[in-house]
Amino acid sequence: MSHLIAPSVLSADFGNLQRDIELINSSDADWFHIDIMDGAFVPNISFGFPVLKSIQKYAKKPLDVHLMIVDPDRYTQLFKDAGADVLTVHIEACAHLHRSIQNIKALGMKAGVALNPHTSIHLLEDIIADVDLICLMSVNPGFGGQKFIENTYSKVSALKKLIIEKNSNALIEIDGGVDLNNYKKLLAAGADVLVAGNTVFGSNNPLQTITQLKQI
Ligand code: DX5
Ligand code: ZN
Repeated sequence: MSHLIAPSVLSADFGNLQRDIELINSSDADWFHIDIMDGAFVPNISFGFPVLKSIQKYAKKPLDVHLMIVDPDRYTQLFKDAGADVLTVHIEACAHLHRSIQNIKALGMKAGVALNPHTSIHLLEDIIADVDLICLMSVNPGFGGQKFIENTYSKVSALKKLIIEKNSNALIEIDGGVDLNNYKKLLAAGADVLVAGNTVFGSNNPLQTITQLKQI
């Protein structure tokens, strides 16, 4: 499988959201990455269901929803109803991760687990065979446009090894600070999905930047 590009809507122009969604529809991008922040799990608030439903109305590609919220289990059904195709919860926010994953999958969504930069991939050993996606945070979650954390490369390689060892089909997603200088090294280390916010929406030519990120 060729790698996937998931532009992060957090960096879109919310005054022209429909325009930016349609830009992604017409691009080489694969998914929409959608960041939900609650002001408790992370020190920022992004947006909730009304905005997500508006995105769903125009989006013609899968919605990859990244929950940076405490107690995500409370909202699993609501995110399904709002159109999530992939629903990712943070390992640091789930006391009963196995149950959270099973609930997401039972509703017909792909289940993802996100790890903060300081969280060891070894915590995934007993759950990795059950998850569809692992999101490695390459910045501290909460904001777009932050600097990429270099330790991520070795984390990706180690995670790839663990996935193979455990016979898991999980995709490795990298979220935060992905740009045209580091994306190839991330792919070489084993990344499958690259999230890009500022790199795409801060570019003079977002369509061309997405096409570049698709090149190996
Ligand atoms: C950060 C979010 C990211 C963010 C990425 O908390 O999870 O998805 O939007 O933005 P960039 O690519 O600008 O770092
Ligand atoms: Zn994200």
